[in-house]
Amino acid sequence: MDKVALLETIAAGGATGSTMAQRFGVSRAMIWKAVEGLRAEGLCIEGTPGAGYRLEAGRGFGPVSLAWRCARPVHFFECCDSTNAQARRLLAEDVSASPLVVADAQTAGRGRRGRSWRSEPGENLLFSLVLRPNVVPQYAPRCVLAWAAAMAQALDVYVKWPNDLVTQTGAKLGGILAELDAEGDRVRTVILGVGINVNQRDFDDLPDATSLARERGVRIARAPLLATLIEAIEAVDTSGAPSLDLWRNRSHTLGQKVRVGQVTGLATALRDDGALMVGGQAILAGDVELLGPFR
Ligand code: BTN
Repeated sequence: MDKVALLETIAAGGATGSTMAQRFGVSRAMIWKAVEGLRAEGLCIEGTPGAGYRLEAGRGFGPVSLAWRCARPVHFFECCDSTNAQARRLLAEDVSASPLVVADAQTAGRGRRGRSWRSEPGENLLFSLVLRPNVVPQYAPRCVLAWAAAMAQALDVYVKWPNDLVTQTGAKLGGILAELDAEGDRVRTVILGVGINVNQRDFDDLPDATSLARERGVRIARAPLLATLIEAIEAVDTSGAPSLDLWRNRSHTLGQKVRVGQVTGLATALRDDGALMVGGQAILAGDVELLGPFR
């Protein structure tokens, strides 16, 4: 039985065990068993005699609930090494695939600049999306900036150069690890690995980190949030070099006194190639340290 179609039917409302048994051509017992499978995924499905099954909005995080919300093929792992590594393996099997890889936990989560990415199991979003922007490799960083800004807009947060998602005070909510594969002068794929702190409360040894739940004071349903982020990423026009205006509007970095490596100064502009202008110098890679209070 197609569990995604079953969930769709329940979500539409008014479906009883017998109408669904008829529709899917199976017994009522099989429908009941499949509903139990959906509940095991965390979906909150109430069954009332006569009124049928009802889905409580927002709950559930697993292969069926995600496939139901996202148009791409979803590969869900309770635990994997790294969703970026998994996406790379899937691409090795099928070069034309554009999967979404999601994990509840990672054993070897990777961050930018060779760092690791740690995340409490079952609390956050850890995903990798295979994207195919139609650009030359030099424009790939620009695409990543545009995707980061689109996510910042969807979450109503800010971007810290280059691709961190931060609160208004600069606390880190999430990060992006983008891995590029190019052939000749064209980008073949970008594996966009995204980690967002959603419901985690403690960041003992990371004083600058926070989560959406900590900021908003409520737990947040991860499946609809993930679907919103995917939609925002996919809406960015990468048929050519994308606009960076949204990044500039969502920036936490521009106008601040910062240090990046050896360079200290005012972050005055984001160049069209993605470079950050600090004290008149173009910075192409590095970590931004904020030197003054955020205005
Ligand atoms: C950063 O250093 O800020 C980037 C962190 C990116 C972490 C995400 S979690 C999902 C995906 N899989 C990984 O191994 N890394 C990225």
